[in-house]
Amino acid sequence: MTTDIINIKLLVNARPINQLLRGKELAQLPCIENAYLTIEDGIISEYGLMSEIKNQKSKIKNTIDASGQFILPAWCDSHTHLVFAASREEEFVDKIKGLSYADIAAKGGGILNSANKLNAATEDELFNSAWKRLKEVSKLGTGAIEIKSGYGLTVEGELKMLRVIKRLKEKSKLCIKATFLGAHTYPLAYKDNHQGYIDVIINEMLPVIAKEKLADYIDVFCENGFFSAAETETICKAGMEVGLKPKIHANQLNLSGGTQVGVKLGAISVDHLETMDEDAIKSLAGSDTIGTLLPTAAFFLRMPFQPARELIDAGCVIALASDYNPGSSPSGNMNLVVAMSCIQMKMLPEEAINAGTINGAYAMELQNEVGSIAAGKKANLIFTKPISSIAYLPYAFGSNCIDKVMIAGEFL
Ligand code: NIG
Ligand code: FE
Repeated sequence: MTTDIINIKLLVNARPINQLLRGKELAQLPCIENAYLTIEDGIISEYGLMSEIKNQKSKIKNTIDASGQFILPAWCDSHTHLVFAASREEEFVDKIKGLSYADIAAKGGGILNSANKLNAATEDELFNSAWKRLKEVSKLGTGAIEIKSGYGLTVEGELKMLRVIKRLKEKSKLCIKATFLGAHTYPLAYKDNHQGYIDVIINEMLPVIAKEKLADYIDVFCENGFFSAAETETICKAGMEVGLKPKIHANQLNLSGGTQVGVKLGAISVDHLETMDEDAIKSLAGSDTIGTLLPTAAFFLRMPFQPARELIDAGCVIALASDYNPGSSPSGNMNLVVAMSCIQMKMLPEEAINAGTINGAYAMELQNEVGSIAAGKKANLIFTKPISSIAYLPYAFGSNCIDKVMIAGEFL
């Protein structure tokens, strides 16, 4: 099946050559005005100026007129915890009354609260609720997504979560990557026996995950009161031995050393980065590890936003993601993530779009399939309502500027 999309007002992020964008390159957003795009069997085959469209009359074609519309590559959300059993708005209210994220965690709330509920839920229940969230974010323009485990914290619970993610991968047309985050926090039973839980992760969880190919990456919440830098390194190395590359939670609440450990291990990404010092920034800038910024988590927890400008100016590679989870970011809306990074972190609209598309694709090693407009990539596309410019998208942060979303050549 061939589809021609014609009269596109602006075709955004059309780049024939893939490139991981850092420093000043992040502001370069190649666009084509008055463009066409041809899709064959769900894959972009050609694109260019309307004036240069080839008229192959012999082919049976479907034509879509996109007059007045911008077309962007769908968002690549490289950090989510989309599988969970229940929302946690009671903690949200506790926070309004003055408790901190750390206070809530210390009294058995937070991740442990989600873990209790997840262990009580069936695989089908988890699948059905996650499927609804996946549908919701795809309608908001997300075409590729990473999903973590980490609310099980038991062998059965972690495997159940990863099997749910595997089923989502099989059923969904979105590109999905799975990350094993058994080291999200210490379960109560191991509160005073950290080595005991690390042994469970390494000796009981990882072998099954490797055998059943349940994960692509390994993650650790490297944070004071959670996993130390040394523990993070041990767990990541065990994951690497069975082929899981690290993508780690680092420098969210403290200078945990997580960024440096990630860089040392050649992690795909270090994520969060609300709390960075010169040493952590320098270490990240000298590497190909992607710094994934999660502004909606900082917003929801009322924490300082990630120092995006310092990171970009120092030459770090950065991506943007939603961190969709019930505790720190109960939203998977990448349009809001992009807007917030411009409004609160002073990223340029072009930088934010690149960080939420091509660099996000790299942060899931999906850069050859999605993340930009290029021949051979999946036709995962956002069709906007009529808008005046690229900057209008983050500027009109409360409006839904999306008209339609296409995944693998088909409208949702
Ligand atoms: O990325 N920081 C660690 N994990 C999640 C939050 C988990 C939760 O509160 O349920 C995050 O923010
Ligand atoms: Fe997270």
